[in-house]
Amino acid sequence: MTKYIINGGNRLNGEVSISGAKNAAVAIIPAALLVDGACRIENVPKIIDVTLQLEILRELGAHIRLLNSTTVEVNGDYIAEAKVPYELMRKIRASYYLIGALLGRYHHAEVAMPGGCNFGGIRPIDQHIKGFKALGAQVEIREGGYICADAPDGLTGAHIYFDVVSVGATINIMLAAVLARGQTILENCAKEPHIVDLANFLNSMGADVKGAGTDVIKIRGVRRLRGGMYSIIPDQIEAGTFMAAVAACGGQVLVKNIIPKHLECITAKLKEMGVEVTEYDDSVLVTRSGRLRKTNLKTLPYPGFPTDMQPQLTTALCLADGTSIITEGVWDTRYRYTEELARMGASIHVDGKIAVIEGVRELTAAPVRAFDLRAGAAMVIAGLAAKGVTQVEQVTNIERGYENLVEKFVSLGADMYRSEIPETEAAMGAAQ
Ligand code: EPU
Repeated sequence: MTKYIINGGNRLNGEVSISGAKNAAVAIIPAALLVDGACRIENVPKIIDVTLQLEILRELGAHIRLLNSTTVEVNGDYIAEAKVPYELMRKIRASYYLIGALLGRYHHAEVAMPGGCNFGGIRPIDQHIKGFKALGAQVEIREGGYICADAPDGLTGAHIYFDVVSVGATINIMLAAVLARGQTILENCAKEPHIVDLANFLNSMGADVKGAGTDVIKIRGVRRLRGGMYSIIPDQIEAGTFMAAVAACGGQVLVKNIIPKHLECITAKLKEMGVEVTEYDDSVLVTRSGRLRKTNLKTLPYPGFPTDMQPQLTTALCLADGTSIITEGVWDTRYRYTEELARMGASIHVDGKIAVIEGVRELTAAPVRAFDLRAGAAMVIAGLAAKGVTQVEQVTNIERGYENLVEKFVSLGADMYRSEIPETEAAMGAAQ
C-alpha cells in the first residue's frame, strides 16, 4: 500500500511543467486502432490509466513500442480478437472507447462494462449505445456484463442528437463514425479540448471530421486512416490542480506547457477569489499573497467550470473568507471527499448537488483517503495547506491520472513523500 505523507504549511514557489492530457490520451490511444500501420503518439502522460490502456491494446494483439518516456508507437493491424475481458476493463473506465474503435475498424466489439472513477453514483452509457445503434450496429448486453456490438456489413453514417452532453458518447461515436460509409452528423456534442484533440489526431491520420469544439460535429467517412505522428495537448485539469494548490497554500508558481485558453474558466474563478493570474503564450503565473475571498460556482460542460476541478477548488474555498456555494451540474453526486475535509476542520454542508462552505482560518492534518482521482488531488491540496502531518491513503486513485504529482509538488517547496507500506503491515494496522 502506498501513502503520501505531507507535512503541510509551506508556500509553493517555482515552476511546474504540465504533462499530456489524460482524457485526451485515453481517447487517442484506442483511436490508434483505427489507423492502418503504426502511428506515433507524443506527450503521452506517464499515468496508470495510460499504462492499463496500453496493456489492454497489447492483450488484444496490437503492437506497442515505447520510444521514450512520453512517446508511444501503436500498430493496430494485428488485432486477433475484438474481445476485451472484464479483468482488464474493470480497472479503467475510458476503455469503453475500445467499443467505438473496434466496431469502427473491425465491425465487431465485445467489451466488458467499464470500471474507473466511482463518485458513488451510476455512470450510464445509454447515449453511446444509442449512437452505435444509429450507425447500424446491433448492440446487446450479454452474460457477464459484456456489451456486444456487431455490424457485419460495416457502419453507415447517421444523424444523431445526443440527449445529454456527454464527453464519452461524443468521443465513442466519433471513433465509430470515421470509417463508416457516408456522413455522420452529431448534435448536442461535448466541446471539451480533448474532443478537439481527438478530432485533430483523426484528421492528421486522414479522417474528415469538422466542427469539433462546437455543438455539431460532421464526419465524412473515409475508407482508411494512415499512420502518422501526433502530440497530445497539455492537461487542463492537472494545470488547474496546481493553480488551486497555489490558491490554497499561497506563493507564486509559473505553470508551464499549457494552453491558457483551456484554463479561462478556472482562471476567472481564481481571480474572483483574489488570486493573481497572469497569462503568457504557453504558461500562467499564479500568485496568492493575501486572504482568499469566497465565490460561488457551478460545474458545467466545457466551456463552463469543469467538474474535474470541483474538489480542488472546493478545498481552496474552505480557507476563504466568507460563505461559498458550489453546485455540481454534471454528476449526480461528487462530494464524498467533503467528509474527509470535514475531518480536517473544514466547514461544509452538502445537500444533493449543492455544497455550502463556511471558510475557516486553517485546516488541521488528519489521515484521509483519496476516494477517486480528483478527490485525491483535493486531499493533497488540503494536506499541503493544513497544519501538521497529513497521510493520504488509496493514492493509486491519484496516480491513475497525475504524472509525478509528488515530485512536482516537492520541486515547488512542498514537504511530502511517498511511503510504501508492506501489505502485511498495512493489513495488521487495519485489523487493530
Ligand atoms: N451521461 C448519460 N448517458 C450517457 C453518458 C453520460 O446520462 O450515455 C451523463 C452522465 O451521467 C453525466 C453526464 O452525462 O451526468 C456527463 O458524463 P460524460 O459522459 O460527459 O462523462 P464521461 O465521458 O464518463 C468524462 C471524463 C470525466 C469527466 C466527465 C465530465 C474521461 C475518461 N472522463 O467522463 O473525467 O468528469 O467527462 O467532464 O474523459 C476525471 O478525469 O477525473 C473524470 C472523471
